[in-house]
Amino acid sequence: MWVPKGLEGVIVASTELTKIDGQAGRLIYRGYDATELAGNVPYEAVAHLLWLGGLPAEAELLQLREKLGRSRALPVVVEDFLHSVAKVAEPLSVLQTSVSILGGLDSTKSASTVNASIALTARMPTIVASFNRFRHNASPLQPRADLSHAANYLYMLTGKEPRPEHVRALDSYFTLLADHGLGASTFVARVAASTLTDVYSAVVAAISALKGPLHGGAPIYVWEMLQSIGRPESAREWLRECLAKGDRIMGFGHRVYRTEDPRSKVLKRLAKELVKPDLFHLASTVESEARELLREDHPNRVIDTNVEFYSSLVLDAVGIPPELFTCTFACARSVGWTAHIVEQRKDNRLFRPESEYKGPADLDLHGLQKTEA
Ligand SMILES: CC(C)(COP(=O)(O)OP(=O)(O)OC[C@H]1O[C@@H](n2cnc3c(N)ncnc32)[C@H](O)[C@@H]1OP(=O)(O)O)[C@@H](O)C(=O)NCCC(=O)NCCS
Repeated sequence: MWVPKGLEGVIVASTELTKIDGQAGRLIYRGYDATELAGNVPYEAVAHLLWLGGLPAEAELLQLREKLGRSRALPVVVEDFLHSVAKVAEPLSVLQTSVSILGGLDSTKSASTVNASIALTARMPTIVASFNRFRHNASPLQPRADLSHAANYLYMLTGKEPRPEHVRALDSYFTLLADHGLGASTFVARVAASTLTDVYSAVVAAISALKGPLHGGAPIYVWEMLQSIGRPESAREWLRECLAKGDRIMGFGHRVYRTEDPRSKVLKRLAKELVKPDLFHLASTVESEARELLREDHPNRVIDTNVEFYSSLVLDAVGIPPELFTCTFACARSVGWTAHIVEQRKDNRLFRPESEYKGPADLDLHGLQKTEA
């Protein structure tokens, strides 16, 4: 029996949420090109599209914004937890545990999957921002219902009125990262949801999968790579050494895209507008050198920039510290995870694949020599 490793090419669910055309480099959310949605409609409208099936009318958008705004504050017990671990714990684990605590506290969590999705999406940025403030010996700020999802996140992180160009860039980032088919974390969320567990628990499972460097953990490594390369003239040598050691170049390659990740193009444009020219020049030099070296090593496989490469520049430019990059990815993807959970529950069947057993059979227990206890 042939078993495709990593389920490559295997269809395991039907969805109306997202289509990825890996050959053409297109990402579609319920019929709309995600790269056109980014910057043209607010993230909250994209959330409405994914959760409820269509882009909202003005009144519907207002209503969703109000709901999100009302749901942002954290229960005291979560704040206490954040305070207690602020100096010692790694951010994504803290986010994951906080989501778990929120689930434990929400007695209505199974009443409406969409309402739980809204509550969770509203609170995840508050968790990340509050944790970060505790880490820096500052008190968390009360979320502001008058700000958009992206603006409020920036406000809670910095305590300052966010700059409009930063809000626009983060809003676009949120939209571009909102969903991406069955990436490992979303698949895990759907598998968990298929047991009819609650939304929070399924998202806790998703965050576990996001943590790995092959998935959402990559942007901090991209950032560290750029810092380590330092100057455009050093890029080729550095990348050659990286590949010679058998390491992967972070921010490159994708299981599905056989061309440039369409999200990367938009993020590159945003990075060009936002970051200092020297840094942008360094990143674009690393990009072109890496592309060339990877083409030499893999002439038959296109390994191009993925979403993480320019994400790191955009997130840094809007004021998000590198150690919060993956948490910020999780905040964006909460909409996709929960939309998949909603969809899974609408037409559920428990995931229960099988494995090909390759171990021995019929070993003789009685033929074993007895060992002294
Ligand atoms: C994302 C990723 C896991 C997808 O990989 P995949 O579809 O499973 O591809 P494979 O792991 O099968 O790799 C195929 C070949 O390309 C190489 N390759 C893939 N991405 C590479 C990268 N970023 N740098 C160097 N080589 C890479 C592999 O080493 C492998 O080479 P081999 O056939 O000689 O063994 C992979 O490209 C990667 O590790 N990228 C770096 C991490 C990253 O940016 N993650 C964020 C993803 S959005």
